[in-house]
Amino acid sequence: MSASAAGGGGLPVLSALHAFVAANFHGAVLLELALAVVTFLALRWITAPYGRHARPGWGPTLPARVGWAVMELPALLGFVALFAASSGRGERVPLLLGTLWVLHYSQRSLVFPARLPPTARPVPLVVIALGMVFNALNAPINAYWVAEAARYPAGWLGDPRLIVGGVVFCAGLAINWHADALLLRLRRAGAYGVPQGGLFRWVSCPNYLGEMLEWWGWALAAWSPAGVAFALYTMANLIPRAAAHHRWYHQRFPDYPRDRRALVPLLW
Ligand SMILES: NC(=O)c1ccc[n+]([C@@H]2O[C@H](COP(=O)([O-])OP(=O)(O)OC[C@H]3O[C@@H](n4cnc5c(N)ncnc54)[C@H](OP(=O)(O)O)[C@@H]3O)[C@@H](O)[C@H]2O)c1
Repeated sequence: MSASAAGGGGLPVLSALHAFVAANFHGAVLLELALAVVTFLALRWITAPYGRHARPGWGPTLPARVGWAVMELPALLGFVALFAASSGRGERVPLLLGTLWVLHYSQRSLVFPARLPPTARPVPLVVIALGMVFNALNAPINAYWVAEAARYPAGWLGDPRLIVGGVVFCAGLAINWHADALLLRLRRAGAYGVPQGGLFRWVSCPNYLGEMLEWWGWALAAWSPAGVAFALYTMANLIPRAAAHHRWYHQRFPDYPRDRRALVPLLW
């Protein structure tokens, strides 16, 4: 499978975007891998300043509901735009994979922000801007791969990579949504607490564990270099944050469950 400059069509602006992504696909994947390394190194020293780790000194902020929607919408719109401009947009495998992406990002950009409590902490503009830039890079290259470059063979719907990757994606999605729902219920009740239920029995951050499973499942199902870059970036972003959350729980709650790990049940 190789990147291709074929496709496009429809609105001129979409055709231009498609042509731009086609011409720069491999460079964009490498850039995303480089961003993963930079992000991981930076987050070893600086805890991303939003949510419970918000602190003064990070400039202007937006209310959490608006901030999350603005930050995540490029991941939904950028994917749909590039997908619509690609020649495989009517084929079954791209449509199936595209449905998984849209399912995740319509929840993340529309439902999740709407469910945040009014008391949710404002998000610094710098965090929102960095998230938007990443999403605007990541979503089009993932859409381009599945709907244009991959050219899945006829039997891909029965291929073990698609089946196993799809199951891992759906399991990750269920874990992520369930954990976020438990956290938001706790948040709406007032102050921070010790979450209970589901995979919180085993780890402090099952929402992050689910998110990582999702994107590794996506990378496998789509057999995609852009998917691998995204899965690695997600790990680079969320492993340091899971470590920070886990430390925070132990500092804040002296009776925090001792056998609960940060991210990986029984291990870490
Ligand atoms: N793919 C990626 O690279 C990436 C990057 C970042 C986030 N995400 C995803 O985006 C979602 C949100 O991320 P996040 O970093 O905001 O997750 P988080 O820190 O776990 O917080 C999720 C929500 O639950 C609340 N909350 C968390 N712990 C709580 C507790 N102990 N008691 C009460 N309320 C609690 C938070 O309130 P506060 O906001 O007020 O703390 C927030 O509203 C997750 O599903 C995550 O996987 C993905």
